[in-house]
Amino acid sequence: MSTATLDPVALRADFPLLAGQPELVYLDSAATSQKPQAVIDAEVGFLTTANAAVHRGAHTLAAEATELFEDARETVAGFVGARPEQLVWTSGATAGINLAAYAIGNATLGRGAPASTRFALAPGDEIVLTESEHHANLIPWIELAARTGAVLRHIPVHDDGTLDLDRAGEIIGGRTRLVAFPHVSNVLGIVNPVDRLVSMARDAGALTLLDACQSAPHLPLDLPALGVDLAVFSGHKMLGPYAIGGLYGRSDVLEALPPFLTGGSMITTVTLDEADYLPPPQRFEAGTQPVSQAIGLAAAVRYLDAIGMEAVHAHERLLERRMREGLREIPGIRLLGDPSTGSGTASGSGTGEVERVALSSFDVDGVHAHDAGQFLDARGIAVRVGHHCAQPLHRRFGMTASVRASAALYNTEDDVDAFLDAVAGIRPFFGVAS
Ligand SMILES: Cc1ncc(COP(=O)(O)O)c(C=O)c1O
Repeated sequence: MSTATLDPVALRADFPLLAGQPELVYLDSAATSQKPQAVIDAEVGFLTTANAAVHRGAHTLAAEATELFEDARETVAGFVGARPEQLVWTSGATAGINLAAYAIGNATLGRGAPASTRFALAPGDEIVLTESEHHANLIPWIELAARTGAVLRHIPVHDDGTLDLDRAGEIIGGRTRLVAFPHVSNVLGIVNPVDRLVSMARDAGALTLLDACQSAPHLPLDLPALGVDLAVFSGHKMLGPYAIGGLYGRSDVLEALPPFLTGGSMITTVTLDEADYLPPPQRFEAGTQPVSQAIGLAAAVRYLDAIGMEAVHAHERLLERRMREGLREIPGIRLLGDPSTGSGTASGSGTGEVERVALSSFDVDGVHAHDAGQFLDARGIAVRVGHHCAQPLHRRFGMTASVRASAALYNTEDDVDAFLDAVAGIRPFFGVAS
């Protein structure tokens, strides 16, 4: 395990936007992260010196571009502990989850190799999600259930934000075909117990899909070691470019899944009536791929690797504690999913101390989240307000909107202190506290 520490002040010099706006307190990295110069340079460098169509041309430049593109796959796959053929490029996590859902739907329709029938859903089969999903890991499954007659079940969250594992044990059973859940909720910041859920899903013979959007930028990640069948992550949240993400799959799962999008670049032979498909990952990569973005994402994970994800995690853990403890002390602040500010109506608390990333969502008593966000913005503090694409979870806590502060490796303890000072001023400013 690395014992390296991280100096966020020095790091900020690598991020042109942060270096150019030293007064900005950017606490919206869960929505999208800032990009280091190395990522910008990698994309621009590819476009200015090596741009050509990958996997298509016979000329030298095309071969060079293909090599860079496939090297990027190897680098990014390695970052999550995977082999290159286990990483499918997508335009983001939403696209990755939709790919999985539509591929499973195609298995239901009898498309794909005979091995794909193991994924087929019949009416009454169950897809298990959690109450804490981002809409990206909810709506594709709502749609798949509507197309197949499958039934959605949801693992509830306790008042303290942890998943109710007792209920999970009751819900995951003989009819469960898929368990899809977030590694880290984008509202609660809690790291979910992947091992427990994978083991329950395995016992039931169900497939697992992990939404790793909010863990990949913050924790060391080894997807094969976590034992999940499928997982998605999002480039723009982990210092990388927009419109790039990854779908990881266990080899046997990807090999058996039918494709979703079809067309050029994913085939071996085509007649006017039929087509044979390439093995994964190309089978899932029809059409032109996000080439410069993949190369940018490889630069992002090289940047993170050079710092060391253990060091990133340790630094962000300090920020997390400071932020959470500071918020707890401010009167009128109700944190979503925190033992100190129980809320909601269902069962109370999970297992006590849990691991978290540096992300807190909260309600300011008597002040609408949007007003609170504007107040913070006027003081140079960028946070997100709204439901953060998690309406059911907000409803669970009796809210429609919250304020979310989310840190990354480039945030300092001073950022957190400036944020806490400003939050303490919200209620007095709006005249709901002295
Ligand atoms: C937990 C979670 N899942 C999925 C997504 C969607 O990711 P993308 O922007 O890559 O589609 C997000 C983005 O906010 C997220 O936080």
